[in-house]
Amino acid sequence: MPSQVGDQRAAETNEAVSRRMTPSSAGRGARAASRRLPDLAATEALAAAIARRARPGDAILLEGPLGAGKTAFARAFLRAATGDPGLEVPSPSFTLVQTYATGLGPVHHFDLWRLDGPAALPELGWEDARGDIVLVEWPDRLGPLGPEDALVVRLAPAGEDAREATLSGWPDRIGGLP
Ligand SMILES: Nc1ncnc2c1ncn2[C@@H]1O[C@H](COP(=O)(O)OP(=O)(O)OP(=O)(O)O)[C@@H](O)[C@H]1O
Ligand SMILES: [Mg+2]
Repeated sequence: MPSQVGDQRAAETNEAVSRRMTPSSAGRGARAASRRLPDLAATEALAAAIARRARPGDAILLEGPLGAGKTAFARAFLRAATGDPGLEVPSPSFTLVQTYATGLGPVHHFDLWRLDGPAALPELGWEDARGDIVLVEWPDRLGPLGPEDALVVRLAPAGEDAREATLSGWPDRIGGLP
């Protein structure tokens, strides 16, 4: 007799053909969906599609090693959110945060690589920024302040220009993404 879990898995089989579905180990109670992004344009299309689903109060956590494409993703998100395809979006590696006025309200782009522990977050305006949209590179630096309801986008190198993107969180909103 099939279990409820078994039925649920069967119902997901079609989607699992195109998206590898794995139980999330992040403890967010959501499944993680992986997709291959063959080039920068694919990463930019995914970021723009996520920008179309974003709203104030959202946290989008960008994980992945050096050079994975976290800033490239944030740049495409911000260009979509502002409607300005030429918007300058430098890596905020030294300022740690850069804020942009967008059609979605303020969007704060954090790069926490150099953050001196979560205790240093208040002086960056973290609490106020959480009322808006935050894009966060190196979100592991948030420690216990890491938002539970975030969309986590993990980018892993998969060749020179290819990336494997794994999304977790936003169970009601990530359907239909490219
Ligand atoms: N599919 C792709 N997605 C994202 N970036 C890509 C892709 N293919 C090539 N790239 C290139 O990889 C580089 C990614 O650099 P980026 O600064 O975005 O990485 P990062 O993850 O922010 O690194 P860091 O940890 O240093 O902040 C860029 O030069 C970008 O053009
Ligand atoms: Mg970066």
